[in-house]
Amino acid sequence: MEKLLIHGGIPLNGEVTVSGAKNAVIAVLPAAALVEGVCRIENVPHIKDVDIILDILKQLGAKVKFHNQVVEIDSTTINRNVATYELVRKMRASYYLWGALLGRFKSAEVATPGGCSFCARPIDQHIKGFEALGAKVTIHNGNMLAVAEQLKGSQIYLDVVSVGATINIMLAAVRAEGFTTIENAAKEPHIVDVANFLNAMGAKVKGAGTDVIRIQGVEKLHGGTYAVIPDQIEAGTLMIAAAVTRGDVIIKNIIPKHMESLTAKLIETGVTVEEGDDAIRIYSDKRPYKANVKTLPYPGFPTDLQPQMTVLLALAEGTSIVTEGVWDSRFQYVEELRHMGANIRVEGRLAIVEGVPALSGAPVNATDLRAGAALVIAGLAASGITEVYGLEHIDRGYEDFEGKLRALGAVIERVKV
Ligand code: EPZ
Repeated sequence: MEKLLIHGGIPLNGEVTVSGAKNAVIAVLPAAALVEGVCRIENVPHIKDVDIILDILKQLGAKVKFHNQVVEIDSTTINRNVATYELVRKMRASYYLWGALLGRFKSAEVATPGGCSFCARPIDQHIKGFEALGAKVTIHNGNMLAVAEQLKGSQIYLDVVSVGATINIMLAAVRAEGFTTIENAAKEPHIVDVANFLNAMGAKVKGAGTDVIRIQGVEKLHGGTYAVIPDQIEAGTLMIAAAVTRGDVIIKNIIPKHMESLTAKLIETGVTVEEGDDAIRIYSDKRPYKANVKTLPYPGFPTDLQPQMTVLLALAEGTSIVTEGVWDSRFQYVEELRHMGANIRVEGRLAIVEGVPALSGAPVNATDLRAGAALVIAGLAASGITEVYGLEHIDRGYEDFEGKLRALGAVIERVKV
């Protein structure tokens, strides 16, 4: 087991470059299974989730190379459409194999992901989409079995704005016969990225990034080259880390438009944000003001930045209300922040954050990816030493997190326990 040791209280300073987007790449890689040809995918972050999904693709029969942020996948040789629990258990987002294998083979059997560490994760909207495309879906022995004689385009209205269901339906529909419309679709930047990837491989997807996506099915997809967008959530995490430590940081390889909801909130708390074309400078030299935050689907404030933002507000002057509008519960990390001196009360989907002047270092445990990032940020700002456990969560989704922070002046090291 490993832990991070952080000597806090040092303002971050300097420049840092954002990696490719985790939540895009873990959909783009399975999407390559739809392609009979070689996909060259650039700007791929070296994170655990990528290793796992590449391993799964190899076991399904694909030829895979990963070197210097570039993945080459030849899916021509994929000869299995079954991914059992042993294969996919390490990763919830393996659910993108449903859409990809169903689109490719018209039938797929993939284990259903368990809940995740912070919430139950329903899959009804995925199933509704596959059924609308003509698949018969059954759940048997923990596997989802989707079988279609033919996939046929359809009109699908999502009852819940779901990133996963939107992408999964897109994956199956690109190789369905005829025309599919997804209404009330999610609009996250990674939805657009997956659509752009599919289009680069010969698909006909229009409207991604709006709430209506239109897909004209094609018979085959061809190989090609694609570069994944920068990670909106990693960028936001670094922006908040700069603000919390009252530092001065330029964050490069960022799409400022994707950051608008966070930028607006940071400005509201008194942090200075200067936007360039593909860089953002963050600086602050004073205690933040309070602000209320509600997470919503894009373009609202991202739920995946909620724990990190709560750390900033925990140090603000005054009382802030944080409302989780996407997941039923996502405040498990609050207990850990309390060990560091934060004064936060959770009532259902609300956290009432009474700002305190300072946090102090403590041993804390990351219970999920973004909780882990929040605890690291809290440790960077706190006085004394913070020990963060549960690094397997952080390693799933942040490329060289502590290396990037160290380059900004943080005193942080990974040690064996
Ligand atoms: C994606 O999860 C992300 N994961 C999550 O990021 C992110 O928090 C979430 O989108 C929201 O932005 C990946 O991309 C791998 P949803 P996903 O389907 O697709 C309900 C991180 O830290 N719902 O948009 O699983 C659901 O319960 C992770 O990087 C249904 O009711 O999320 C939730 O309340 C954590 N039925 C809401 O919709 C369904 O069939 C949004 O879920 C599907 C979802």
